[in-house]
Parts: sequence; C-alpha cells; structure tokens
Amino acid sequence: MSRSIARLLSTSASCSSSNSSSSNNSKPVVNTLESLVAMCKRRGFVHVSGEQFNNGLAGAFDYGPLGTQLKRHIADAWWRAFVERRGDVHGVDTPVLLHPRVWQLAGHVEHFADAVVECRHCGASSRADHVVGAAGDALDDAALAAHIVAHRASLACAHCGRKDAFGDKPPTRRNLMFDTHVGAAAAGLRTYLRPETAQGVFATAKHVMYTLRALPPFGLGQIGRAFRNEIAPGHFLFRMREFEQCELEYFCTQADLPAQLHYWIEFTEAFLTEQLGIPSARLRRRPHRTADDVQPTDDDSFVNSAHYARRGGADLEFRFAFGWSELCGIANRGTFDTERHNITADDGSLLHVVEPSLGLDRLVLAVLDACWRPRLSLPAVGGVDPSGDASIQRDILTLPAQLAPYKFAVLPIRKRDDMLDVARALQRRLMQHARTDMDVTTSIGKRYRRQDEIGTPVCVTIDEQSLLDSTVTLRDRDTTKQIRLTTDQLLDRVKLGSAFTF
Ligand code: GAP
Repeated sequence: MSRSIARLLSTSASCSSSNSSSSNNSKPVVNTLESLVAMCKRRGFVHVSGEQFNNGLAGAFDYGPLGTQLKRHIADAWWRAFVERRGDVHGVDTPVLLHPRVWQLAGHVEHFADAVVECRHCGASSRADHVVGAAGDALDDAALAAHIVAHRASLACAHCGRKDAFGDKPPTRRNLMFDTHVGAAAAGLRTYLRPETAQGVFATAKHVMYTLRALPPFGLGQIGRAFRNEIAPGHFLFRMREFEQCELEYFCTQADLPAQLHYWIEFTEAFLTEQLGIPSARLRRRPHRTADDVQPTDDDSFVNSAHYARRGGADLEFRFAFGWSELCGIANRGTFDTERHNITADDGSLLHVVEPSLGLDRLVLAVLDACWRPRLSLPAVGGVDPSGDASIQRDILTLPAQLAPYKFAVLPIRKRDDMLDVARALQRRLMQHARTDMDVTTSIGKRYRRQDEIGTPVCVTIDEQSLLDSTVTLRDRDTTKQIRLTTDQLLDRVKLGSAFTF
C-alpha cells in the first residue's frame, strides 16, 4: 500500500463495525477501499489536493474530470428529486460568509464543537468518541470521560501508538468552525466559513416567503460548500475539511410535523436506493438521541444529535467498506431556528423545520463503494470477452447509467483513417444526447477493461463491417453481452432512453 493511500485510510472514524461488511462479505474489506482509492487516483476521479507539497492538506481533495462528472450527476439527481420536480420546494443560493450574528443565533459559536483528548506522550489531539471506538458516537461528554478514565491503561494514541495515552484528564471541547476576517484583518468583522449551508436558508427564509407568498408547508433547498476544521479527517471522502452539502429546510406547522418527518425519512431512503442505486441491505436507520428524548447512553441503536435537534429525526447509515457510518441525516429542528429568525405562519405561530441533509462527497463515496467490484471474474453473465481470454478478471464500477461519467465509449477496432472518421462522426452524434468517450489506444480488450473500470455502461465498437453497412456492436459493461445495431437504431434507442438495457 502506498504511504499516501495508507494515510487516507488509516485515520479513525466514528464508524460502528457492528454487522460490518467483514461478516457477510468474503472479500477483504481493506483491499476493497484501498483498490477503490487507487483507481480514483489512477483514472482521475479524486485525489489528495496538493499531494506534491508534503502529501497535501489532510481532508482536502481534488476531483478530476471523471469525479467531477460523477459528483455533478449525483448533485443533479438530488436537485431534481428534492427541488426541481416539486411544486412545494424552491432553490436558493446563499453565501459561504454570513454575518457573525447568524452563528451566535444558531448556537454554533457555543455548541459546534467536538470533545477532544490530548495524548500525554506526543501531544496529538484525538476525538474522544473515536478513542472510545464503535459506540463512541452514542455517548455524551460525561459518559465519554468516564469510559476514558475506566479504560485508561488500554487506550492507545492513534498517532504515536503508545498506551495509557490520555490519563485522567477529561476531554475538552474544540469548536470546529474556521474563523476569518471580512475586510482588513485588524479592523474587519470576524466571522466564520459556514459549517452548514442551512443557516443561509434560515437567514433568507422570511424574504423568500414574502417574494413567493409561500405558505407552509414549503421547502427551500440548497447545494453548497461547507467547512469544518475536523480534528480527524479521514476515510477518504468520508470526513473532509471542505465538502459540499445538499440540504433541504422544510417548513411546516406543528400539527404536520410528525407526518413530514416520516415522509422525508422515507423519501430520502427511496432517493438513495432508487436514484443512486445504493442497495437497501447496506442502509440502516439510527434514530437521534436528543435532549427531549433521553435514551440510556449504553443504547447504541441511538446516535447523538446536534444541539438544535428535537425528537423524531434519524441518521441513515451506510455500510461503508470500513464499517457502518452516517451517510446523511434527517433532523427535526423544531422551532430552534425559526424562533431565532422569527419565521412564522400567517397566524403568527412559529413554523417547524424538518431537514434532510446529505453530504455530497459522502454520497460520491457511498456510490463508488457500492458499485466497485474489484477483480470480478469474466464473464459475469453469458458472453465471452472479445479478447478471448476467459480467465481475465475485471475491475468494474457498476454505476447506474444516469450517474456514469461517460454513458458511451466509441472504440474503433483499428486506428485507420476510415474507421476513425466513422467513430468521430458517431461520437459527435452521441454527444448531442450523452457524454461519450472515444478511445483509440491499445488492444480492444484493454480498452473494454478501462471503460469497465470507470463505469461506462456501453461500449460501441466500430469494425470493418461498420464501414460497409453502418452497423456497430454494443457491449454491456456488466454482462459483456453484445448486440449489433445500425447507428440510426442506436440513436433512436438513445433518444428513447433505452440504450442501456439489452
Ligand atoms: N445542517 C445539518 C448538518 O449539517 P450534519 O449531520 O452535521 O448536519 C450533514 O451534516 C451531512 O453532511 C452529514 O450527514 C454528512 O453527509 C455530511 N458531512 C458532515 N460533515 C462532513 C465532513 N467533515 N466531510 C464530509 N461530509 C460531511
């Protein structure tokens, strides 16, 4: 394993390993994520930003051309489902920099913090819940402190590896917001880079209600960057310091709240499975433990929630290659924010808020993780690999067609001018409907393999016969099944949206 990949994977995360993939998946867990990270770098999906400078900044990543396409397709799917196709939801786009008063009102200045312990030997900071392990995200500060004292002899520092690392000192809380100055540093206004996109929505909601004459229930959706000075970024795209969120703030009356909470949890689950192709067997709900719904702290079927949350919300966890962990959350924010921004119904009663909040980069990671099939033997279903070598193992990214960076790859069998002309003309026609790659390098078998690895659903091969009768071969990524069609038939299928099933 290269040093940079090891670093990306090694950082502890508050993932629970209960029912983890190791128990019902015979593939080695670490290798799956390791090979995925390596592929992402090799093929231009994602890699560590500024790697050339002492391995880059932890928790910051560059999306390459393929990763950018994939992320955009996931964001588009969210926008379509949560905003575009709904009459009751509207889109907004608010700034990263908000007036500092917003963050005081939101409680982030006081509460947006992690409990941190420092190693007595090397001085490095660790999140107290990570030190405790799988159940750490279910414990409050007092329970975390008690656990650390009770197990002090065996608890090791993740950085230097030495035991009895934390002694008896209770964890301290460290705020996660990046602060900055607006204007000249000395005289300027001190504020923060937003750690959630939601607060921009609350700050603008009254104005939007006025301009649209919106009555509850209605929602405001936004996609944008968020910044958190995480103590322990890690697990690749799982915990970053700069990331994107897709958030919906749905405003409703108190009477409507239970039904809306139920609806948005189900809606978000259906989005993950039906639009992003995430298998339901790899999803589970973990209800929020809140101040008004106190559960015993040893019940880890609940997860601790944010300071603004009220009873009834839940995290949706995904079984990542490193174990179960939060993919997204649907919070009951109650009147926490509407009280502070005076967002009311016509009768003056405060509106309640249900908030499905999905991290876009975490969705990218979950989709890649769910679709990555390293070293799958050929042929998966019927068909023989055209390279003639039935023993070859393929790495396949089984992305749903609507998410794939390229929908088609046009592959002329030979690098001859007449074939290249036909291939280029077909690529141009296909590009009017869907992003299409063209590859003329190396053997056809290797080119298929490359397209399988980046998730291209259909390869279109141009051969001698194509020059005579305008037919081409379509090859399905997952089954390797092939059919022959005229280019006009192919274009008809593309227009009808039926080019991906044969
Ligand atoms: N407005 C609510 C909110 O921000 P959150 O649970 O703190 O709630 C929502 O974050 C989602 O944002 C998470 O479920 C996760 O998908 C994503 N997220 C949070 N912190 C992240 C990080 N450091 N890196 C990547 N994604 C993150």
